[in-house]
Amino acid sequence: MSDIKNSEIANIIKESLGLDSQSSSPRALDESYVAQPKPFDLNTEFLSQKNKLAHKELYDNYVSTFNKVSAELDAVDKESANLNHSTFRSLKVDEAYNLNALWLHELYFANISDLRSEIAMDSIPYMRLERDFGSFDAWQKDFIACALSARNGWVVTGYHMYLQRYVNTVVDLHSLNHMFGIFPVVVMDVWEHAYYRDYLKDRKTYVFAMMKELSWSVIANRFAKAEKINAAMRG
Ligand SMILES: [Fe+2]
Repeated sequence: MSDIKNSEIANIIKESLGLDSQSSSPRALDESYVAQPKPFDLNTEFLSQKNKLAHKELYDNYVSTFNKVSAELDAVDKESANLNHSTFRSLKVDEAYNLNALWLHELYFANISDLRSEIAMDSIPYMRLERDFGSFDAWQKDFIACALSARNGWVVTGYHMYLQRYVNTVVDLHSLNHMFGIFPVVVMDVWEHAYYRDYLKDRKTYVFAMMKELSWSVIANRFAKAEKINAAMRG
């Protein structure tokens, strides 16, 4: 893989995390990661205002907890790390949990609530999902099956770097059972907190409602980045 492609991948990852893609200075090893909560405008009428506010509060809490954990990791005793019980181990587990939680929520909030949702048959998302799942309808059916299978978790469609194709994956909680090496393009929150207030236990109706308003323009932008990763992986 050439240096140019490596830097291109680095910039894609930086952009997707909201970091300055032009910055070339490496992060110091003892410097905490710091995430900032992002604003989201959810106009959908498929979710109540109370639900939206409560969900935003949860997201803000994941961001602040991630920052706290990250800062504590800077100072934690690494000499006593062990698999049975150690502060270092607990912090590393919480780091992954809260980082996944905040990023998945950002991806989810950004790709729902498009009141003019539509997808063109000649768009990259449509063509890639059709290519890798057999048909767009087959992707939808698989996505819904995944959404109904997660235990308080997530369904994610993403580009898999090893398989070099798009896949759907089930995530339990924020960090269990998902596949490594996926660049996410479509993300749906299926924790009970995402729908129970408005849909009680009818997760399927909630998922259908959210899928009606997927923001295919946001998703197409993610596919464009995934296609660059695909080109780099094949290079
Ligand atoms: Fe959530």
